[in-house]
Amino acid sequence: MSCVIVVGAQWGDEGKGKIVDIYTEHADIVVRAAGGANAGHTLVVGDEKTILRLLPSGILRENTRCVLAQGMVVDPAVLVAEMSQLARQGCQRVDARVALSARAHLVLGYHQQIDALRETAAQARAIGTTKKGIGPALEDKVRRTGILAGDLRDLARLRDRIEGSLFHWRPQLAALGGTIPSVDEVLAELEPLRARLVPLLCDTSRLVNEALASGKKVLLEGAQGTLLDIDHGTYPFVTSSSPVAAGAAVGAGLGPTRISCVLGISKAYATRVGSGPFPTELPDPEGARLREAGAEFGSVTGRPRRTGWFDLPGFKYAARVNGLDGFALTKLDVLTGLGTLKVCVAYDTPEGRTEELPLDAIADDPSKIRPVYEELPGWSEPLRDVRKLSDLPRAAHSYVRFIEERSRVPLYLLSVGARRIETIVLQDPFARAAERRSS
Ligand code: GDP
Ligand code: IMO
Ligand code: MG
Repeated sequence: MSCVIVVGAQWGDEGKGKIVDIYTEHADIVVRAAGGANAGHTLVVGDEKTILRLLPSGILRENTRCVLAQGMVVDPAVLVAEMSQLARQGCQRVDARVALSARAHLVLGYHQQIDALRETAAQARAIGTTKKGIGPALEDKVRRTGILAGDLRDLARLRDRIEGSLFHWRPQLAALGGTIPSVDEVLAELEPLRARLVPLLCDTSRLVNEALASGKKVLLEGAQGTLLDIDHGTYPFVTSSSPVAAGAAVGAGLGPTRISCVLGISKAYATRVGSGPFPTELPDPEGARLREAGAEFGSVTGRPRRTGWFDLPGFKYAARVNGLDGFALTKLDVLTGLGTLKVCVAYDTPEGRTEELPLDAIADDPSKIRPVYEELPGWSEPLRDVRKLSDLPRAAHSYVRFIEERSRVPLYLLSVGARRIETIVLQDPFARAAERRSS
């Protein structure tokens, strides 16, 4: 039994898709357990770029089973479009390899409409959501008026559930000047998708647990990132789900005892898209320079990402709340040619200096905390062709070691480019799984 969880250690977009694709070489099943089409996970194989929003990043490997588990909120139209697109691209046996939990919740057109209308109405208080309807769909779930993927099997039940959900949203849609759909209109949107989705439905918790029991290797692909977590992030500027490792176990229907390795993914610097505190953010023109160098624009929305220096207290915080066994560092190549580099090692707060992430102080008033930086030498050599740690320029090597040593989290993988081959794999997380079993 070996089950590895990959989680974002920052504010999302750390390169989870690329890392999952790499480690999927050794996995039988890849599971998305949280979030929905707010995610955009990029895989670059050869010169071909694929951006996945709902399907797990194992889909490009033709023998990998891909599971959308019950912790997800699934936009059925996006899922069908994504499967069709991949099939057109030549991806093999897509429908046969995808399993959709009957208990995953559906995101419908009116959820997206409400998300967008509320963001506009909130003006300065807007969260900067992806407007994909994630918050409203999860509100329906918690209010117990959600629509389950399994409801697609039975039109009468589907109609009843949609009516139950719309009952709560009609007043808000009216107040925000939105369009209130009739139940028949919502059903008409879903009707053409049912034939494609119903055959994918199953009890994915059972599928994954049975696979583990029979010795298969399972990779849980996190979406979003630790600092966007509803409980552990920079609330209220967070997503509505739980992207941390424990959230992945809940969302996949796996007991915590089944998890054998938790791997955090972090960029060699920091980015954030949307509103909310970002203590190490670089102002323009330096921020814009890093944005250009790293092509930091949203994979799906195209929104410019905010950029800043690596936040060591933030990374140590992610190590704590996820229980990281190791980490992958991505986009080191982007720092080439940027001159002297800074790493935030502590924070000055009204209560004094701390090496912990002062989340409460940040929530209270981010302007009252100041990052404390250490400067590290930069390098000018391109890194994309480097395939061994020892071939890195000395300054790049020191930068990586600095993060590893100060955080006390072992480095499992270093990424020096977007492509699959631009990767230095140091440790196999599935081997860690085997070690833990025998200890
Ligand atoms: P995810 O949401 O965590 O899967 O990350 P995204 O795909 O949204 O964003 C990461 C971006 O960085 C994508 O465009 C990737 O192709 C790219 N990327 C991943 N790793 C590297 C790397 O090591 N170097 C460079 N230059 N780009 C990378
Ligand atoms: P991946 O999986 C980066 C951010 C949004 C916004 C906040 C809430 O690609 O790393 P939501 O639409 O979820 O209600 O928005 O969360 N956000 C992400 N930022 N990467 C993501 O996913 C994100 N998913 C949500 O920008 O600030
Ligand atoms: Mg992304």
